[in-house]
Amino acid sequence: MDNSIYIHGSQPEEQQRLSKLNKMLNQACMQVLQPKEGERILDVGSGLGQFTRAMAKRAGIKALGIERDIQQLHAAKDFAKADQEEHLVDFRQGDANDLPLLEEEVESFDLVHCRFVLEHVKHPDKVMDQMILGVKKGGRVVICDDDHSTFTPTPTPFGFKALWEAYIRSYDRLGNDPFVGRRLVELMHTAGLTQIRNQLVFFGGCAYEEKFELVADNLIGILSGAKGFMLSEHLIDERTFDQGMAGLAHWRKQKDAALWYAIPWAEGWKK
Ligand SMILES: C[S@@+](CC[C@H](N)C(=O)[O-])C[C@H]1O[C@@H](n2cnc3c(N)ncnc32)[C@H](O)[C@@H]1O
Repeated sequence: MDNSIYIHGSQPEEQQRLSKLNKMLNQACMQVLQPKEGERILDVGSGLGQFTRAMAKRAGIKALGIERDIQQLHAAKDFAKADQEEHLVDFRQGDANDLPLLEEEVESFDLVHCRFVLEHVKHPDKVMDQMILGVKKGGRVVICDDDHSTFTPTPTPFGFKALWEAYIRSYDRLGNDPFVGRRLVELMHTAGLTQIRNQLVFFGGCAYEEKFELVADNLIGILSGAKGFMLSEHLIDERTFDQGMAGLAHWRKQKDAALWYAIPWAEGWKK
């Protein structure tokens, strides 16, 4: 186990952000993922389980979600219950670095999926090895994760550069890779997967679109959530942080505001 800290935590406000993110992004991710009927799916770092359930629904059989944080697991079960979809997923507590798979589950899954988790671990290659352990021969592994260097709000909000650099450095400080998205193919290749393909999933928007509120909320949410850590690690001072946040508050109201961002996504097959 690498005991890595998950910077966003699992407080109710953070769970709201993650839930909104799922609303914004799941359709686009589903389009590239295209789960097939009958695929048995394992979702690693399943969070609130919304995408796990969506995948299971498409596959038509129960999926397994493994998540380390007990509060996320509780919320995931509550959400599934509220949507009367408890039959779609089993949730289990566990660490992506050491997946608690039953003997009969080893090399049994048709699809092992992992989104926005590799950026929060110290050794993404170890997590890859665990995912490979879960997937059966001829099955596929799908990973989707951030490369924070490509995140571009325009017109550039006042104070954004300093704020974003401090946020990126908070990943380094935790021993995690803020640019892991650009390594997805390399990680898959090293792990021995074949027929790898990669692409980008758009995760931006502009002020003319209804979803822009969610896009802006997400950006402001990740930064507010990481404020305590950034300040305690002296990655930014409070005045500069507040200036950057004021810049973002102004930006989100501009009629020509846009966020240009796409998330790296890759798929590979086990020989
Ligand atoms: C940004 S959320 C993404 C959740 C979900 N995959 C999604 O796309 O909606 C990251 C999740 O990974 C979990 N996580 C972080 N490190 C983990 C680890 N080492 N093992 C299992 N889960 C982990 C966090 O608790 C959090 O729920």
